[in-house]
Amino acid sequence: MPESSGQIDNVMHEDRLFPPTAEFAGQAHIKSPAEYQALWEQAAADPAAFWAELAREELHWFEPFTEALVWKEPHAQWFVGGKTNVSTNCLDRNIAQGLGDRLAILWEGEPGDSRSLTYAELQRQVCQAANCFRQLGVGPGDVVSIYMPLVPELVIAMLACARIGAVHSVIFAGFSAEAIADRNNDAQAKLQITADGGWRRGKILPLKATVDEALAKSPTVENCIVLDRVHQDVPMQAGRDYWWHALMAEADTECPAAPQDSEAPLFILYTSGSTGKPKGILHTTAGYNLYAKKTFQWVFDHQPEDVYWCTADCGWITGHSYLVYGPLAAGATCLMYEGAPNYPDESRFWQLIEKYQVTIFYTAPTAIRAFIKWGDQHVEKHDLSSLRLLGTVGEGINPEAWMWYHEKIGGQRCPIVDTWWQTETGGIMLSPLPGAIATKPGSCTKPLPGILPAIVNQAGQPVEPNQGGWLTVTHPWPGMLRGIWGDPERYQEVYWSRVPGHYLAGDNARCDEDGYYWIMGRIDDVLNVSGHRLSTIEIESALVSHPQVAEAAAVGRPDDLKGEAVAVFVTVKDAQPDDQLRESLKLHVRHEIGALAQPDDIRFTAALPKTRSGKIMRRLLKDIAAGKETVGDSTTLEDLNVLTNLGDGDK
Ligand code: WTA
Repeated sequence: MPESSGQIDNVMHEDRLFPPTAEFAGQAHIKSPAEYQALWEQAAADPAAFWAELAREELHWFEPFTEALVWKEPHAQWFVGGKTNVSTNCLDRNIAQGLGDRLAILWEGEPGDSRSLTYAELQRQVCQAANCFRQLGVGPGDVVSIYMPLVPELVIAMLACARIGAVHSVIFAGFSAEAIADRNNDAQAKLQITADGGWRRGKILPLKATVDEALAKSPTVENCIVLDRVHQDVPMQAGRDYWWHALMAEADTECPAAPQDSEAPLFILYTSGSTGKPKGILHTTAGYNLYAKKTFQWVFDHQPEDVYWCTADCGWITGHSYLVYGPLAAGATCLMYEGAPNYPDESRFWQLIEKYQVTIFYTAPTAIRAFIKWGDQHVEKHDLSSLRLLGTVGEGINPEAWMWYHEKIGGQRCPIVDTWWQTETGGIMLSPLPGAIATKPGSCTKPLPGILPAIVNQAGQPVEPNQGGWLTVTHPWPGMLRGIWGDPERYQEVYWSRVPGHYLAGDNARCDEDGYYWIMGRIDDVLNVSGHRLSTIEIESALVSHPQVAEAAAVGRPDDLKGEAVAVFVTVKDAQPDDQLRESLKLHVRHEIGALAQPDDIRFTAALPKTRSGKIMRRLLKDIAAGKETVGDSTTLEDLNVLTNLGDGDK
C-alpha cells in the first residue's frame, strides 16, 4: 500500500460485546440504541439549531444570543451576542433550583483529612475569592496562573476567575519553575495563585519555593496568593505575596457575576505539541460550558443521588471539564482526592470508593494498568458495590485491561464508557452512552449527538469500514478550541490545513462495520513495516494480553529491509525478563496479530516514560530504539530517570 494513501491496516479482532443490563438501561436518560440514533440524527440534520436549543435550556442568559453559530473556517463563534457567566451556571443557577444544600465537593487530602462543601458554601467562597482577585487589580481578560495541589481552593480559584471574567491558566503542580515561567510569560499572567506546599506520597512538594523561582522570571506577574495547605514556613515577599486565608477573612461573601460575552476567553490550558513549545489551548465561555455540561450528563448518565469521582487533576483538561465545569454545571456531587493512588498503600482508591460510596468512577488506562500490576488483593479488601458506572480517558485501553476493569472493579455489572477526546475538543466526542450502546473492549464506540466525525485518507477521502485513516470532525461543535494563545498560524496549520474543511485530531482511527470507532494511536506514531502501516495500540494490546505483561509501548525503528522494524518496550508483572520470555512474547504477537507485527527488538524496562498525565511518550522511545539522542520537549515527562535507564536497554 502506498504510504501516501494515509490508510492503516487493521489487524485487531475483538468480538466481545457487552450490552448494558436491563436495570441500567431502564433508569438511564437515553435508554436504547434507537433513542440514541434518533437524537444523533436530529442533531446531525442541523447541529447549530440542536445546540442552540440546548443552550437556551441549560445555561443562564443575562442576554440571549442572536445567532447560534458563525463559522468562518477555522474560526467558530457560538451563541453570538449572548451574555452568560460560567460560575453562575455552575453555582447560582443550581442554587436557584433548590440545590443549595446539595454537596458539590467531597474532598479528601492525602494525609486523610477531609472537607465537604455544599453548592451554597462553594458559592460564598467563590464570591470571596473573586473579590480578593479584584482587589488585587484583576479584571476581565486578565490571566491568572494557578499552581496548586488538588484542594477545593483550586476549584474555587477557577470559578472565581470565571465570575469576574478573568482567564485562568492552571499548571499542574508537578511542573518545574522553568515550565511555569514559560507558561506565565506566554500568557502574560498577572496574578499567581499557589500553596505553601502539597502532599505527594507522604512528602511535601515545595510549591511556593518553585513558584518563587518561576516568578523571578515572570515579569508580568504582579501578585501571588498563597494557600496555607501544609503549614510550612515559606518566605513571603512584602507587597507581592498574600496569604489566601488573610485575604478571604476580609472579603465580602457576595459578588454578583459579571456577564460575559459567549465568546469571552474562559481559560488557557497548555498542552505539549509533538515538537517545540507547549500550545496554549484557548477555550471560551458559553459553548465550552454547554458542551462540558451536556456531555457529562449524557456520558455519565448523571442522576441526582450519584457520587461521582473523576481522578484527574485540574491541571489537565479532564479535570477542567469533568471535575469542575461539567459536573458542577449539572449539579453533581464530586469527590476530589489530593494524593497518590498508592499512598499509604495500593488500596487507597478502593478504600475511598467504599468510604464515600462512589457510584461513578472515571480514571485513566495508565492507572488501570498500574492497579493490575499491583495485584487484585488490594481491590478485594474493599466493598465496591456502590459503583454503577466506570469510565476511562486519555489513551486507548487495551482490551485485556478493559476486561480486568469490567470484572474486578465493575463486578461485571457496570458499563464502561471509554471516552475519546482531547484538550482541544473541550469535552468528550466519542463514547458509549451507557444505557444505550453495547460496548466492545477497546472501542470508544460512537459519536455523541451533535458530533460528526469522518475517517479520511491523506487525500481527504473517506475510507472504507475497518480501514484505518485520519480521524477528523466535519462540523464545528460548541466545545471546540478557539485557537492557540498568541499563535493563530499554528492553530490553522496544526488543525485545519491538512484536510480542508475538517478538524484534524492528529489520531488514527477505524470505524467497524457496526459504526464503532477504534482509536489506533497518534498519526506520528504509525509504524510502516514492509509497506504495511500498523498502529501502536494493536501491537501493544497484543502484548498486554500476554499473562506476564503489565504494559507495553511499540515504536518503529529504521530498518534497511523492511522500512521499519517493530521495537517494543515492555514492563512485566512478576516474571523474569529473560530471553525465554522474549521468545514467548514474539510468538504471542505472531499468534495474536501475525508475523508482520512480530517485534524485532524487545526491551524490558521497569517503567515506561510517560507524560505527567500518564501518556506513553512514544516519540522519545522511538529515538531510543533508533539509537538517537532524545530531542524535543520533555518538560512534560514524568520521571526523567526512566529515560536514562532505558538507553542501556538490551535488545
Ligand atoms: C488520546 C485527554 C484512545 C488521543 C482528554 C488524543 C485516547 C489524546 C482516548 C488527547 C481514548 C484520549 N482512546 N486514545 N479514549 N482519550 N486519547 O489532550 O491520542 O490530554 O488525541 O486529552 O489522548 O490527550 P489530551
